Amino acid sequence: MYPFSDTLLERLRTAERVAVLTGAGVSAESGVPTFRDAQTGLYANHRPEDLASEAGFRADPLLVQGWYRERRQRVQQVAPNPGHHALAQLAEALPYLSIATQNVDGLHQRAGSRVVHELHGSIMDTYCIDCGAREQAYIDKDGIERCPICGGLMRPGVVWFGEMLPEAAWHAAEHEAVNADVYFSIGTSAVVYPAAGLPLIARASGAYVVEINVAPSAIAGELDEVLLGPSGEMLPALLKALTNNHAPTHQRAHAPTN
Ligand code: OAD
Repeated sequence: MYPFSDTLLERLRTAERVAVLTGAGVSAESGVPTFRDAQTGLYANHRPEDLASEAGFRADPLLVQGWYRERRQRVQQVAPNPGHHALAQLAEALPYLSIATQNVDGLHQRAGSRVVHELHGSIMDTYCIDCGAREQAYIDKDGIERCPICGGLMRPGVVWFGEMLPEAAWHAAEHEAVNADVYFSIGTSAVVYPAAGLPLIARASGAYVVEINVAPSAIAGELDEVLLGPSGEMLPALLKALTNNHAPTHQRAHAPTN
């Protein structure tokens, strides 16, 4: 159905290391809204910094805690889609595949992907902005979630604008980009740095870099290929193209099953 280039398939068949950067678009087909879609995006009705910065949080904790609570509930109600599953299966079919994700929804892990670097944290995590405690919050008389130890505001364990990325996840993602033979940038608008720079780091380091998106991202012009289509269809098709026709050159050693 999708005409994958011979170059991409050949690069994948011979690749020792494949690395992937994912964004909100990968979870769109699970029913998790993206951020920047003009109609349905999570930022459609608010300025991003009002919802996703410490200043915005302190100015209106009720709004911000409520926004994250709703997103947390949504994530618990949805399931990984065929795109998440195909990435997990590609990791089994190839010698090595890692994922660096900007998503905080945990859907890659739920689909069975084992090497996942969470660049922007996890929405299921909460901690006190003052003392760092990860205790169960209590709700004060104004409906605000507070720390049972010090009374501070409970914030989500995600990275906000102006904050550093978790060091270990970032270094791992950078290492994967530098050492990748093939790099995929999937379902991200590629406007939030430093994550958006990873495909460019990979390309500068010699990887063959491919974008999968329903519309070209901000960095599409700088990559080797742009495949336009939903990741929930494109990734299963890629898995099929790779595994049906030829086995990857570098086969994993499998122990006999009987
Ligand atoms: P965006 O909302 O900026 O971009 C989503 C991308 O997914 C767009 O490029 C869409 O075209 C694409 N897309 C939508 N549906 C798709 C589908 N079915 N298949 C493939 N692509 C699809 O989301 P991100 O790029 O993830 O940060 O945003 C980056 C960061 O900005 C987020 O991690 C978040 C936000 O501020 C933090 O919260 C720290």
